[in-house]
Amino acid sequence: MAQDVLDYFLHALGALFRMRRIYPPGSKQVYQSAKQAHQRLVEWGRSVRITFLGQDIILEDRRIDPIPISFQALFQSLQQLGFESVQIEADADTGDLMDWVEHVVSKDRTPYQGQKIVAGSMNLEKRASPQSVMTRAITGYLGFLAEAQGILSDLESKKPEGIVRAREVVCTIVARLAIGRELFEPIRDLKNFEDYTFTHALNVCVLSSALARALRVSDEMVNTIAMAGLCHDLGKKEVPKEILNDKGALQPEDRRLMERHPFFGAQLLLEIPGVESTYPLLPVVAYQHHMGSNQSGYPKVQNRMLQYSLHFASLLVAVADVYDALRTVRPYRPAMTVAKAATILIRDALAGKLNKEYVSSFLLLLNVLSAGRWVVLSDGRRGMIVETQTGRPLCPMIGDEQGRVLDLSLPSAPTIWEVEEDGASNPREIPAGQQAQL
Ligand SMILES: [Fe+2]
Ligand SMILES: [Fe+2]
Repeated sequence: MAQDVLDYFLHALGALFRMRRIYPPGSKQVYQSAKQAHQRLVEWGRSVRITFLGQDIILEDRRIDPIPISFQALFQSLQQLGFESVQIEADADTGDLMDWVEHVVSKDRTPYQGQKIVAGSMNLEKRASPQSVMTRAITGYLGFLAEAQGILSDLESKKPEGIVRAREVVCTIVARLAIGRELFEPIRDLKNFEDYTFTHALNVCVLSSALARALRVSDEMVNTIAMAGLCHDLGKKEVPKEILNDKGALQPEDRRLMERHPFFGAQLLLEIPGVESTYPLLPVVAYQHHMGSNQSGYPKVQNRMLQYSLHFASLLVAVADVYDALRTVRPYRPAMTVAKAATILIRDALAGKLNKEYVSSFLLLLNVLSAGRWVVLSDGRRGMIVETQTGRPLCPMIGDEQGRVLDLSLPSAPTIWEVEEDGASNPREIPAGQQAQL
Protein backbone atom coordinates (compact mmCIF):
# COMPACT_ATOMS: atom_id res chain seq x y z
CA MET A 1 0.00 0.00 0.00
CA ALA A 2 2.76 2.42 0.99
CA GLN A 3 4.53 1.48 -2.21
CA ASP A 4 1.42 2.43 -4.21
CA VAL A 5 1.51 5.93 -2.69
CA LEU A 6 5.09 6.30 -3.88
CA ASP A 7 4.14 5.06 -7.35
CA TYR A 8 1.32 7.63 -7.46
CA PHE A 9 3.87 10.32 -6.72
CA LEU A 10 5.98 9.12 -9.65
CA HIS A 11 2.91 9.26 -11.92
CA ALA A 12 2.09 12.77 -10.69
CA LEU A 13 5.67 13.91 -11.26
CA GLY A 14 5.56 12.56 -14.82
CA ALA A 15 2.24 14.34 -15.38
CA LEU A 16 3.73 17.61 -14.10
CA PHE A 17 6.59 17.32 -16.57
CA ARG A 18 4.19 16.63 -19.47
CA MET A 19 2.00 19.58 -18.49
CA ARG A 20 4.94 21.94 -18.33
CA ARG A 21 6.04 20.89 -21.80
CA ILE A 22 2.61 21.76 -23.13
CA TYR A 23 1.81 24.87 -21.09
CA PRO A 24 3.97 27.89 -20.21
CA PRO A 25 5.64 28.25 -16.79
CA GLY A 26 3.30 29.60 -14.11
CA SER A 27 0.17 28.57 -16.01
CA LYS A 28 -2.82 27.27 -14.12
CA GLN A 29 -2.42 23.78 -15.60
CA VAL A 30 1.21 23.50 -14.50
CA TYR A 31 0.36 24.78 -11.05
CA GLN A 32 -2.50 22.26 -10.67
CA SER A 33 -0.21 19.38 -11.67
CA ALA A 34 2.50 20.52 -9.28
CA LYS A 35 -0.10 20.75 -6.52
CA GLN A 36 -1.20 17.19 -7.19
CA ALA A 37 2.36 15.93 -7.16
CA HIS A 38 2.92 17.78 -3.90
CA GLN A 39 -0.20 16.18 -2.45
CA ARG A 40 1.16 12.72 -3.34
CA LEU A 41 4.47 13.58 -1.73
CA VAL A 42 2.69 14.64 1.46
CA GLU A 43 0.79 11.34 1.45
CA TRP A 44 4.08 9.48 1.10
CA GLY A 45 5.50 11.54 3.97
CA ARG A 46 9.17 10.74 3.41
CA SER A 47 11.95 11.84 1.12
CA VAL A 48 12.16 10.20 -2.30
CA ARG A 49 15.30 9.02 -4.03
CA ILE A 50 15.16 8.11 -7.70
CA THR A 51 18.27 6.63 -9.35
CA PHE A 52 18.71 6.13 -13.08
CA LEU A 53 20.94 3.26 -14.12
CA GLY A 54 21.12 2.68 -17.84
CA GLN A 55 17.61 1.62 -18.79
CA ASP A 56 16.55 1.04 -15.19
CA ILE A 57 14.90 3.26 -12.63
CA ILE A 58 15.52 2.51 -8.97
CA LEU A 59 12.90 4.07 -6.74
CA GLU A 60 14.30 3.98 -3.23
CA ASP A 61 15.59 0.38 -3.14
CA ARG A 62 13.24 -1.04 -5.73
CA ARG A 63 13.69 -1.41 -9.46
CA ILE A 64 10.63 -0.11 -11.30
CA ASP A 65 9.60 -2.54 -13.99
CA PRO A 66 7.86 -1.74 -16.24
CA ILE A 67 8.53 1.99 -16.21
CA PRO A 68 5.10 3.69 -16.04
CA ILE A 69 4.15 5.38 -19.32
CA SER A 70 3.33 8.56 -17.43
CA PHE A 71 6.94 8.81 -16.29
CA GLN A 72 8.71 7.80 -19.49
CA ALA A 73 9.05 11.29 -21.00
CA LEU A 74 10.57 12.69 -17.80
CA PHE A 75 12.83 9.65 -17.48
CA GLN A 76 14.11 10.04 -21.04
CA SER A 77 14.82 13.74 -20.54
CA LEU A 78 16.73 13.10 -17.32
CA GLN A 79 18.67 10.32 -18.99
CA GLN A 80 19.57 12.47 -22.00
CA LEU A 81 20.72 15.26 -19.70
CA GLY A 82 23.03 12.82 -17.90
CA PHE A 83 21.32 12.87 -14.50
CA GLU A 84 21.97 9.79 -12.40
CA SER A 85 19.75 10.59 -9.49
CA VAL A 86 17.19 12.88 -7.93
CA GLN A 87 16.67 13.38 -4.22
CA ILE A 88 13.41 15.05 -3.20
CA GLU A 89 13.02 15.96 0.47
CA ALA A 90 9.78 15.07 2.24
CA ASP A 91 8.91 18.74 2.80
CA ALA A 92 9.46 19.92 -0.79
CA ASP A 93 6.47 22.08 -1.74
CA THR A 94 4.60 22.89 -4.96
CA GLY A 95 7.08 25.67 -5.81
CA ASP A 96 10.10 23.38 -5.31
CA LEU A 97 8.64 20.82 -7.68
CA MET A 98 7.82 23.46 -10.31
CA ASP A 99 11.32 24.98 -10.09
CA TRP A 100 13.00 21.64 -10.60
CA VAL A 101 10.77 20.65 -13.51
CA GLU A 102 11.56 24.05 -15.05
CA HIS A 103 15.26 23.17 -14.86
CA VAL A 104 14.65 19.85 -16.64
CA VAL A 105 12.49 21.41 -19.35
CA SER A 106 15.16 24.05 -20.02
CA LYS A 107 17.54 21.15 -20.85
CA ASP A 108 20.08 22.49 -18.37
CA ARG A 109 22.75 19.84 -17.86
CA THR A 110 24.25 21.37 -14.74
CA PRO A 111 23.46 19.66 -11.42
CA TYR A 112 20.32 21.04 -9.81
CA GLN A 113 20.59 22.17 -6.19
CA GLY A 114 17.33 23.54 -4.90
CA GLN A 115 16.48 23.93 -1.24
CA LYS A 116 14.54 20.67 -1.16
CA ILE A 117 15.47 18.94 -4.38
CA VAL A 118 18.92 17.89 -5.53
CA ALA A 119 19.54 16.26 -8.88
CA GLY A 120 22.86 15.40 -10.42
CA SER A 121 25.42 12.78 -11.13
CA MET A 122 25.03 11.01 -7.85
CA ASN A 123 22.54 11.15 -5.02
CA LEU A 124 25.12 10.36 -2.38
CA GLU A 125 26.65 13.81 -2.57
CA LYS A 126 23.78 16.00 -1.56
CA ARG A 127 25.46 19.37 -1.84
CA ALA A 128 28.19 19.73 -4.38
CA SER A 129 30.56 22.63 -3.91
CA PRO A 130 33.68 23.70 -5.77
CA GLN A 131 36.23 21.11 -4.67
CA SER A 132 39.40 19.54 -5.90
CA VAL A 133 39.09 16.29 -7.81
CA MET A 134 40.69 14.46 -4.91
CA THR A 135 38.32 15.97 -2.34
CA ARG A 136 35.36 15.06 -4.53
CA ALA A 137 36.71 11.56 -4.92
CA ILE A 138 37.07 11.16 -1.17
CA THR A 139 33.64 12.63 -0.49
CA GLY A 140 32.17 10.28 -3.07
CA TYR A 141 34.08 7.40 -1.54
CA LEU A 142 32.71 8.16 1.93
CA GLY A 143 29.21 8.31 0.51
CA PHE A 144 29.67 4.90 -1.03
CA LEU A 145 31.09 3.66 2.24
CA ALA A 146 27.92 4.63 4.07
CA GLU A 147 25.89 2.90 1.38
CA ALA A 148 28.07 -0.21 1.60
CA GLN A 149 27.39 -0.34 5.32
CA GLY A 150 23.63 -0.40 4.75
CA ILE A 151 23.86 -2.86 1.87
CA LEU A 152 25.99 -5.32 3.78
CA SER A 153 23.72 -5.30 6.80
CA ASP A 154 20.72 -5.90 4.49
CA LEU A 155 22.54 -8.79 2.89
CA GLU A 156 23.59 -10.19 6.25
CA SER A 157 19.91 -10.28 7.18
CA LYS A 158 19.25 -11.97 3.81
CA LYS A 159 17.02 -9.14 2.59
CA PRO A 160 16.67 -9.31 -1.22
CA GLU A 161 16.62 -5.49 -1.49
CA GLY A 162 20.28 -5.55 -0.43
CA ILE A 163 21.11 -7.00 -3.84
CA VAL A 164 19.17 -4.24 -5.62
CA ARG A 165 21.03 -1.58 -3.64
CA ALA A 166 24.33 -3.35 -4.22
CA ARG A 167 23.67 -3.29 -7.95
CA GLU A 168 22.79 0.40 -7.77
CA VAL A 169 25.97 1.37 -5.95
CA VAL A 170 28.15 -0.94 -8.00
CA CYS A 171 26.84 0.48 -11.30
CA THR A 172 27.62 3.99 -10.09
CA ILE A 173 31.10 3.01 -8.92
CA VAL A 174 31.88 1.25 -12.19
CA ALA A 175 30.57 4.21 -14.19
CA ARG A 176 32.88 6.53 -12.24
CA LEU A 177 35.85 4.27 -12.75
CA ALA A 178 35.10 4.28 -16.46
CA ILE A 179 35.47 8.07 -16.51
CA GLY A 180 38.76 8.24 -14.65
CA ARG A 181 40.70 7.07 -11.67
CA GLU A 182 38.34 8.74 -9.25
CA LEU A 183 37.65 6.45 -6.26
CA PHE A 184 40.67 4.36 -7.16
CA GLU A 185 43.12 7.04 -6.05
CA PRO A 186 41.76 7.47 -2.50
CA ILE A 187 42.05 3.74 -1.96
CA ARG A 188 45.54 3.67 -3.35
CA ASP A 189 46.70 6.60 -1.27
CA LEU A 190 44.72 6.53 1.94
CA LYS A 191 44.61 4.03 4.73
CA ASN A 192 41.39 2.99 6.40
CA PHE A 193 39.41 5.56 8.30
CA GLU A 194 36.25 3.69 9.22
CA ASP A 195 35.12 0.33 10.37
CA TYR A 196 37.32 -2.28 8.70
CA THR A 197 34.48 -4.51 7.48
CA PHE A 198 32.76 -1.89 5.33
CA THR A 199 35.94 -0.13 4.25
CA HIS A 200 37.47 -3.42 3.19
CA ALA A 201 34.32 -4.55 1.33
CA LEU A 202 34.07 -1.28 -0.56
CA ASN A 203 37.79 -1.15 -1.29
CA VAL A 204 37.78 -4.67 -2.68
CA CYS A 205 34.70 -3.81 -4.73
CA VAL A 206 36.36 -0.76 -6.30
CA LEU A 207 39.79 -2.37 -6.73
CA SER A 208 38.34 -5.56 -8.25
CA SER A 209 36.21 -3.64 -10.72
CA ALA A 210 39.16 -1.43 -11.70
CA LEU A 211 41.24 -4.55 -12.28
CA ALA A 212 38.43 -6.23 -14.22
CA ARG A 213 38.13 -3.17 -16.44
CA ALA A 214 41.88 -3.12 -17.00
CA LEU A 215 41.64 -6.76 -18.09
CA ARG A 216 38.94 -5.73 -20.57
CA VAL A 217 36.21 -8.08 -19.44
CA SER A 218 32.64 -7.27 -20.51
CA ASP A 219 30.75 -4.44 -18.78
CA GLU A 220 28.28 -6.92 -17.35
CA MET A 221 31.11 -8.99 -15.88
CA VAL A 222 32.77 -5.88 -14.42
CA ASN A 223 29.53 -5.18 -12.56
CA THR A 224 29.26 -8.76 -11.35
CA ILE A 225 32.88 -8.76 -10.18
CA ALA A 226 32.30 -5.48 -8.36
CA MET A 227 29.37 -7.08 -6.55
CA ALA A 228 31.42 -10.17 -5.82
CA GLY A 229 34.10 -7.92 -4.32
CA LEU A 230 31.53 -6.16 -2.16
CA CYS A 231 30.14 -9.46 -0.87
CA HIS A 232 33.29 -11.59 -0.68
CA ASP A 233 33.70 -11.49 3.11
CA LEU A 234 30.03 -11.63 4.17
CA GLY A 235 30.77 -14.92 5.90
CA LYS A 236 32.84 -13.10 8.53
CA LYS A 237 29.51 -12.28 10.13
CA GLU A 238 29.59 -15.81 11.53
CA VAL A 239 33.06 -15.37 13.02
CA PRO A 240 33.22 -13.79 16.51
CA LYS A 241 34.72 -10.27 16.53
CA GLU A 242 37.37 -11.31 19.08
CA ILE A 243 38.72 -13.79 16.57
CA LEU A 244 38.56 -11.32 13.66
CA ASN A 245 40.42 -8.70 15.68
CA ASP A 246 42.81 -11.01 17.53
CA LYS A 247 46.16 -9.29 17.95
CA GLY A 248 48.31 -12.41 18.00
CA ALA A 249 48.51 -15.71 16.19
CA LEU A 250 45.16 -17.48 16.27
CA GLN A 251 44.68 -20.66 18.26
CA PRO A 252 44.19 -23.65 15.92
CA GLU A 253 40.50 -23.88 16.76
CA ASP A 254 39.93 -20.16 16.16
CA ARG A 255 41.87 -20.34 12.92
CA ARG A 256 39.69 -23.22 11.76
CA LEU A 257 36.59 -21.12 12.46
CA MET A 258 38.11 -18.09 10.73
CA GLU A 259 38.91 -20.21 7.71
CA ARG A 260 35.29 -21.25 7.42
CA HIS A 261 34.21 -17.70 6.52
CA PRO A 262 34.30 -18.46 2.76
CA PHE A 263 31.89 -21.33 3.34
CA PHE A 264 29.64 -19.23 5.59
CA GLY A 265 29.65 -16.44 3.01
CA ALA A 266 28.66 -18.70 0.13
CA GLN A 267 25.94 -20.26 2.24
CA LEU A 268 24.56 -16.87 3.31
CA LEU A 269 24.52 -15.58 -0.26
CA LEU A 270 22.73 -18.68 -1.51
CA GLU A 271 20.03 -18.08 1.08
CA ILE A 272 19.25 -14.58 -0.26
CA PRO A 273 16.29 -14.87 -2.63
CA GLY A 274 17.32 -14.20 -6.21
CA VAL A 275 21.08 -14.48 -5.78
CA GLU A 276 21.42 -18.02 -7.11
CA SER A 277 19.38 -17.26 -10.23
CA THR A 278 20.65 -13.74 -10.95
CA TYR A 279 24.18 -13.62 -9.53
CA PRO A 280 25.41 -17.22 -9.27
CA LEU A 281 29.01 -15.98 -9.29
CA LEU A 282 28.70 -14.23 -5.91
CA PRO A 283 28.68 -17.39 -3.78
CA VAL A 284 31.41 -18.87 -5.99
CA VAL A 285 33.77 -15.95 -5.36
CA ALA A 286 32.88 -15.86 -1.66
CA TYR A 287 33.80 -19.55 -1.44
CA GLN A 288 36.97 -19.43 -3.55
CA HIS A 289 38.61 -16.11 -2.70
CA HIS A 290 41.16 -17.64 -0.27
CA MET A 291 41.82 -20.85 -2.17
CA GLY A 292 44.77 -19.45 -4.07
CA SER A 293 45.76 -19.99 -7.69
CA ASN A 294 47.65 -23.14 -6.68
CA GLN A 295 44.94 -24.10 -4.17
CA SER A 296 47.35 -23.83 -1.28
CA GLY A 297 44.82 -21.74 0.65
CA TYR A 298 41.46 -22.60 2.11
CA PRO A 299 38.89 -24.18 2.04
CA LYS A 300 41.04 -27.19 1.19
CA VAL A 301 40.09 -29.58 -1.55
CA GLN A 302 41.31 -32.83 0.03
CA ASN A 303 41.29 -35.10 -2.97
CA ARG A 304 43.65 -33.75 -5.61
CA MET A 305 41.59 -35.52 -8.24
CA LEU A 306 38.72 -33.25 -7.28
CA GLN A 307 40.78 -30.09 -7.66
CA TYR A 308 39.42 -27.78 -10.25
CA SER A 309 40.34 -24.49 -11.81
CA LEU A 310 39.06 -21.59 -9.81
CA HIS A 311 36.82 -19.07 -11.53
CA PHE A 312 38.88 -16.17 -12.89
CA ALA A 313 36.68 -13.75 -10.91
CA SER A 314 37.80 -15.44 -7.67
CA LEU A 315 41.47 -15.09 -8.64
CA LEU A 316 40.94 -11.48 -9.59
CA VAL A 317 39.08 -10.56 -6.38
CA ALA A 318 41.83 -12.38 -4.44
CA VAL A 319 44.47 -9.92 -5.74
CA ALA A 320 42.39 -6.89 -4.68
CA ASP A 321 41.61 -8.59 -1.36
CA VAL A 322 45.25 -9.29 -0.46
CA TYR A 323 46.32 -5.79 -1.49
CA ASP A 324 43.65 -4.05 0.54
CA ALA A 325 44.25 -6.23 3.59
CA LEU A 326 47.94 -5.32 3.49
CA ARG A 327 47.25 -1.61 3.04
CA THR A 328 44.87 -1.46 6.00
CA VAL A 329 45.71 -1.03 9.67
CA ARG A 330 44.81 -4.19 11.52
CA PRO A 331 44.87 -4.86 15.26
CA TYR A 332 47.85 -7.18 14.75
CA ARG A 333 49.96 -4.97 12.47
CA PRO A 334 50.22 -1.46 11.00
CA ALA A 335 49.22 -0.67 7.43
CA MET A 336 51.86 -1.35 4.83
CA THR A 337 53.03 1.14 2.27
CA VAL A 338 52.09 0.71 -1.40
CA ALA A 339 55.66 -0.47 -2.11
CA LYS A 340 55.60 -3.12 0.62
CA ALA A 341 52.16 -4.34 -0.37
CA ALA A 342 53.35 -4.55 -4.00
CA THR A 343 56.36 -6.61 -2.87
CA ILE A 344 54.10 -9.13 -1.17
CA LEU A 345 51.79 -9.34 -4.19
CA ILE A 346 54.83 -10.10 -6.35
CA ARG A 347 56.10 -12.77 -3.95
CA ASP A 348 52.65 -14.36 -3.71
CA ALA A 349 52.45 -14.39 -7.51
CA LEU A 350 55.90 -16.02 -7.76
CA ALA A 351 54.83 -18.60 -5.18
CA GLY A 352 51.73 -19.40 -7.23
CA LYS A 353 49.28 -18.19 -4.57
CA LEU A 354 48.06 -15.27 -6.68
CA ASN A 355 47.54 -15.21 -10.42
CA LYS A 356 50.68 -13.68 -11.95
CA GLU A 357 48.88 -12.02 -14.86
CA TYR A 358 46.35 -10.35 -12.56
CA VAL A 359 49.06 -9.19 -10.15
CA SER A 360 50.94 -7.77 -13.10
CA SER A 361 47.89 -5.84 -14.34
CA PHE A 362 47.18 -4.66 -10.82
CA LEU A 363 50.70 -3.28 -10.41
CA LEU A 364 50.22 -1.47 -13.69
CA LEU A 365 47.10 0.15 -12.24
CA LEU A 366 48.99 1.12 -9.10
CA ASN A 367 51.75 2.59 -11.24
CA VAL A 368 54.22 1.38 -8.67
CA LEU A 369 56.86 -0.05 -11.02
CA SER A 370 57.64 3.03 -13.07
CA ALA A 371 61.00 4.39 -14.22
CA GLY A 372 63.13 5.68 -11.34
CA ARG A 373 61.87 3.13 -8.79
CA TRP A 374 64.54 1.10 -6.99
CA VAL A 375 64.02 -2.63 -6.65
CA VAL A 376 65.89 -5.62 -5.24
CA LEU A 377 66.17 -8.59 -7.59
CA SER A 378 65.86 -12.29 -6.76
CA ASP A 379 69.65 -12.71 -7.17
CA GLY A 380 70.25 -10.08 -4.48
CA ARG A 381 71.30 -7.28 -6.82
CA ARG A 382 69.79 -3.87 -6.44
CA GLY A 383 68.83 -1.72 -9.37
CA MET A 384 66.68 1.06 -10.66
CA ILE A 385 63.95 0.68 -13.26
CA VAL A 386 65.19 2.57 -16.30
CA GLU A 387 62.50 1.60 -18.75
CA THR A 388 59.18 -0.19 -18.49
CA GLN A 389 57.91 -2.60 -21.11
CA THR A 390 54.37 -2.02 -22.33
CA GLY A 391 51.92 -4.21 -20.46
CA ARG A 392 54.69 -6.09 -18.63
CA PRO A 393 55.33 -4.24 -15.36
CA LEU A 394 57.13 -7.21 -13.82
CA CYS A 395 59.72 -7.28 -16.62
CA PRO A 396 61.26 -3.81 -16.90
CA MET A 397 64.80 -2.86 -17.92
CA ILE A 398 66.93 -2.42 -14.81
CA GLY A 399 70.13 -0.47 -14.33
CA ASP A 400 72.11 -2.15 -11.54
CA GLU A 401 74.56 -0.50 -9.14
CA GLN A 402 77.50 -1.54 -11.33
CA GLY A 403 76.05 0.34 -14.28
CA ARG A 404 74.89 -2.77 -16.18
CA VAL A 405 71.48 -2.86 -17.82
CA LEU A 406 69.37 -5.99 -17.33
CA ASP A 407 66.35 -7.01 -19.34
CA LEU A 408 64.02 -8.81 -16.92
CA SER A 409 61.95 -10.21 -19.77
CA LEU A 410 64.78 -12.61 -20.73
CA PRO A 411 64.19 -16.20 -19.58
CA SER A 412 67.41 -16.36 -17.54
CA ALA A 413 66.90 -12.95 -15.92
CA PRO A 414 66.23 -12.63 -12.20
CA THR A 415 62.82 -11.43 -11.04
CA ILE A 416 61.84 -8.45 -8.95
CA TRP A 417 61.91 -9.57 -5.32
CA GLU A 418 61.34 -6.33 -3.49
CA VAL A 419 59.97 -2.92 -4.36
CA GLU A 420 61.71 -0.14 -2.45
CA GLU A 421 59.98 2.91 -1.10
CA ASP A 422 59.77 5.98 -3.30
CA GLY A 423 63.09 7.80 -3.13
CA ALA A 424 64.68 5.00 -1.06
CA SER A 425 68.44 4.89 -0.96
CA ASN A 426 68.79 1.61 0.92
CA PRO A 427 66.99 -1.65 0.45
CA ARG A 428 64.49 -2.41 3.15
CA GLU A 429 63.85 -5.89 4.30
CA ILE A 430 60.38 -7.24 4.65
CA PRO A 431 60.53 -9.65 7.58
CA ALA A 432 60.32 -13.25 6.40
CA GLY A 433 56.87 -14.72 6.70
CA GLN A 434 55.09 -11.35 6.88
CA GLN A 435 51.88 -11.92 5.05
CA ALA A 436 48.38 -10.66 4.84
CA GLN A 437 45.93 -12.05 7.31
CA LEU A 438 42.70 -11.51 5.47
FE1 LIG B 1 38.09 -13.32 3.18
FE1 LIG C 1 38.67 -9.95 2.38
